[in-house]
Amino acid sequence: MTARVDGPDKVTGRARYAFEHPADGAAYAWAVPSVIARGTIHAVDASAALALPGVLAVITPDNAPRLPGAAADPELALFQSRAVAYRGQFVAAVVADTLETAREAAGLVRIGYEQAAHDVTLTADHPGLYKPDFVNPRYETDTAVGDFDGAFAAAAVRVDATYRTPAEHNHPMEPHATVAVWHGDTLTLYDATQGPPRVAGQVAAVFGLEPGQVRVIADHVGGGFGAKGMPRANVILAAMAARVTGRPVKCAVTRPQMFAVTGHRAPSIQRVRLGAAPDGRLAAIGHDVVDQTSTLKEFTEQSAVASRHMYAAPHRRTTHRVVRLDVPTPSWMRAPGECPGMFALESAMDELAVACGIDPVELRLRNEPAVHPETGQPFSSRGLAACLREGAARFGWAGRDPAPGVRRDGPWLTGTGVAASTYPARAMASQARVSVSAAGRYQVSIAAVDIGTGARTALLAVAAEALRVPGDAIDLRIGDSALPPAMIAGGSMGTASWTWAVIKACRSLRDQVRARDGAVPPGGLAVHADTAADIGAQPEHARYSFGAQFAEVRVDAGTGEVRVSRLLGVFAAGRIVSPAQARSQLIGGMTMGLSMALHEESAMDPEFGDYPNHDLAGYHIAAHADVPGIEAAWIEEDEPELGPAGAKGIGEVGIVGTAAAIASAVYHATGIRVRDLPIRLDKLLRAAPEAISRGGPGSPGG
Ligand code: MOS
Repeated sequence: MTARVDGPDKVTGRARYAFEHPADGAAYAWAVPSVIARGTIHAVDASAALALPGVLAVITPDNAPRLPGAAADPELALFQSRAVAYRGQFVAAVVADTLETAREAAGLVRIGYEQAAHDVTLTADHPGLYKPDFVNPRYETDTAVGDFDGAFAAAAVRVDATYRTPAEHNHPMEPHATVAVWHGDTLTLYDATQGPPRVAGQVAAVFGLEPGQVRVIADHVGGGFGAKGMPRANVILAAMAARVTGRPVKCAVTRPQMFAVTGHRAPSIQRVRLGAAPDGRLAAIGHDVVDQTSTLKEFTEQSAVASRHMYAAPHRRTTHRVVRLDVPTPSWMRAPGECPGMFALESAMDELAVACGIDPVELRLRNEPAVHPETGQPFSSRGLAACLREGAARFGWAGRDPAPGVRRDGPWLTGTGVAASTYPARAMASQARVSVSAAGRYQVSIAAVDIGTGARTALLAVAAEALRVPGDAIDLRIGDSALPPAMIAGGSMGTASWTWAVIKACRSLRDQVRARDGAVPPGGLAVHADTAADIGAQPEHARYSFGAQFAEVRVDAGTGEVRVSRLLGVFAAGRIVSPAQARSQLIGGMTMGLSMALHEESAMDPEFGDYPNHDLAGYHIAAHADVPGIEAAWIEEDEPELGPAGAKGIGEVGIVGTAAAIASAVYHATGIRVRDLPIRLDKLLRAAPEAISRGGPGSPGG
């Protein structure tokens, strides 16, 4: 097992996160959020705020510097208009000598609004629903193969069910934060981001600067899950406030502010229809998704996309419809699309297994496709069946009694469930530079970033292997947009993309050194590699990671409280580059999936148009006591097409399917099918009071 190379820095506090970067004479920016969900600002009175000693500036739509490139992203067009698009949108800001003063003064800024009626409620028949041109990141909106309607109507066994997932918010340990420092016309940002080059490019565009005029440094980042995949309003605010005051400015997003300005997973309403023969073989698969975006930007979660490749069936259709509501813009959240979509599909597969009287593992094996069932492309590798078999053996699935609601352990009803996982396996063009000095020290440079995943450790191990030198002979430089440009830490593509460039550069350098019989010239040797051509030359194959998740739950027969007693995930994700870091990523994903199943919900208040549970007291996430036994494992898989490391990526597949496995285990325990997440005890109590009976026979007397 490789120890995490940044471990000692983190546990001793030497590792610096964005906000901790020292900046001489730094001032602090604090945002003023809108208190209406839709309307116009008609007046700003900053006099009381400006009268507070230590206040340097109050920035409002009246006096904010114009941003020449702001039109490209309305979420970054800070203070450029008087229109309010959602509650919590930053509409002004205070810059002051101290954080406390800025915060107090922000509360003194008086803003007059013309309030307009707002609509924040997603419904399956909303009149504003429309068909977007594509869904994220650029998939076809709808697909159709064969005659879905006819085949579904004619099927001997039919499942037709609607599943709902709520709005959810990413909660990395470190909220978004930026330190902005101008030197003349160049800007340095210390930022909590998943992609230093992307932030540098977008911020330069917003301010009308050349790309090289903005440098973004992210030494250590405390999680992201997609929320930090793009610059947010805090980055623009820090840079603008530093421009206005002529001082370095620190700006941190508070936890409650994250519910407005750092994106959310859109709520979804998903109808899944499965038509099968009595032996479980699918004839028809239909998946129709409805979700929301904001009035500012279109962001459509690709929730039906996984249903296009999971199972064989000659007749199929997928659709996505979206409505613009007066809500913050939805954004990336771990396995966007696959995660909510597979809750629906995999729950429906469990319902089909029950309807056919077939074991749910066997049902999935019976519907394995030989090629991509919609495109006909071969899979580069497909490990679902192996994961299901290996998982079933490890979990002790054989001999499971399918009858629901019959197992009792004291006050607990117990049950087990299974679901499949999947995530696209991709890589994006990246560059790396590798050099060696005459003294034999190596330097590997790439604008990758370690957001807590263990990327440093994995990259160092891969570079050492490719160079055939010990890791301590290598200085690894990442987390800086001035380094060779690279894919962001997102889309489960970091490791595949970065290792491709690093290995290519390392091998080329090693060849050069060998060609010189090991003699490095006094000035050293350096190699720059770019994988754009390699990635363009990939064959047209379907590439996915897969997994199988098994859950065991205990449901209190008196109260409906659900506890997950065991969770096992077995994954097929190509070569596992760094086992300790991979295990931790997979367990993290599964924990987040458990959290989605039982806890997470950003509740929308339709009257105020806001999330009232906007902190970690009201928005519950799974904590240590909620996850007693999680085990993540993987099968050996050879993936020949995703670069020399053969890695498919493991950042997201772990969260996919977890919620369905748990929901199916709750059904097995109680006989109650919960189709709208999270599975709270009140839903169980309301659904079937006779199954979960308050004070009933054998109950703990609740
Ligand atoms: Mo992830 S949602 O691709 O950062």
